[in-house]
Amino acid sequence: MKVLVTGGAGFIGANFVHLTLRTRPDATVTVVDALTYAGNTESLPTDERVTLVKGDIADRELVDDLVGDADLVVHFAAESHNDNSLHDPWPFVQTNVLGTYALLEACRRHGTRLHHISTDEVYGDLELDDPAKFTPETPYNPSSPYSSTKASSDLLVRAWVRSFGLEATISNCSNNYGPFQHVEKFIPRQITNIIDGERPKLYGAGLNVRDWIHVDDHNAAVWAIVDRGRMGETYLIGADGELDNKTVIETILTEMGQDADAYDHVSDRPGHDLRYAIDATRTREELGWEPAYTDFASGLRATIAWYRDNEPWWRARKHETELKYQRIGR
Ligand code: NAD
Ligand code: DAU
Repeated sequence: MKVLVTGGAGFIGANFVHLTLRTRPDATVTVVDALTYAGNTESLPTDERVTLVKGDIADRELVDDLVGDADLVVHFAAESHNDNSLHDPWPFVQTNVLGTYALLEACRRHGTRLHHISTDEVYGDLELDDPAKFTPETPYNPSSPYSSTKASSDLLVRAWVRSFGLEATISNCSNNYGPFQHVEKFIPRQITNIIDGERPKLYGAGLNVRDWIHVDDHNAAVWAIVDRGRMGETYLIGADGELDNKTVIETILTEMGQDADAYDHVSDRPGHDLRYAIDATRTREELGWEPAYTDFASGLRATIAWYRDNEPWWRARKHETELKYQRIGR
């Protein structure tokens, strides 16, 4: 099977490539990645079954060639960071909307199966005491330029399925953690701050809740959808990992041998979503998928160890990332 992975030099895509090599002896992988600030070739395994093509998914000619040569497209490429989208939304429209459009047209032309990776943020946010969680039937209500462009891309995929019979599935996953995540994101930022002797930074009061899942559990669910998912369907991926940010930051500090309160409160993110929570019943019951990482503290411990052991991987990006945060006061 020839798998085209868009955004495979990013966090989740790179972990997907590693998982694919480990579990799919019949698969070869072509990664197409623009190698933006978020892409890192050092996240990819060196293996004769993996080929990297540097390119933009909005480049329709390139994408048409690559899709024409693939049996399956798994589409991870995106601008993915909410804070960046608040300061410069254009790359989000360009990649997340126009890039997805270019892929859809290529898949339509070649009759190629597509799996589109999306986020729970398309559903907006929940109150802290809301007993409901997001389901595939929850109405779309995105808050940020990032989540609204992801919602737009999902709607394009749904329209291509209905109008053109495209063979596609969609998954909407909650917050991932694990190796190879860029140091701009919450958990790696705090771990690497502590390694550097800097204090972790908590937005606002830290009451916002995220539903954490290990990246390998996300990617195992993606393969389950590719193997057994119903065409045109949306699957939600989450591991019942709801925690508020204050608890996460205190757990990281404790795991790293610091006082639990040794962090700074910084200004809040404008429009900050309060709570995400996934009901993954369909994915579990229909596909038989179950998360392997059910204990957040032990998954976090392994992630902390990974960042300690792989400083050369993140060091080059740390300084510029913190300069960016300084400029926006966070
Ligand atoms: P990331 O920012 O770490 O990686 C994105 C990758 O896409 C990078 O390698 C980047 O170079 C590449 N890219 C960006 N623009 C491109 C373009 N125009 N053409 C080709 N490549 C381009 O992101 P991530 O956290 O790995 O997220 C991957 C996908 O998963 C995204 O679609 C995101 O919306 C979705 N998602 C992420 C999470 C999460 O917690 N990180 C949760 C749910 C869904
Ligand atoms: O829910 C899935 C989404 O999760 C994905 O679609 C996004 O691509 C991914 O970036 C993530 O979005 P969040 O905005 O939730 O993730 P982030 O890591 O930026 O922040 C997580 C929470 O931590 C959020 O409530 C903001 C807060 N935060 C973040 C940073 C970087 C802090 O308190 N301090 C920080 O330094």
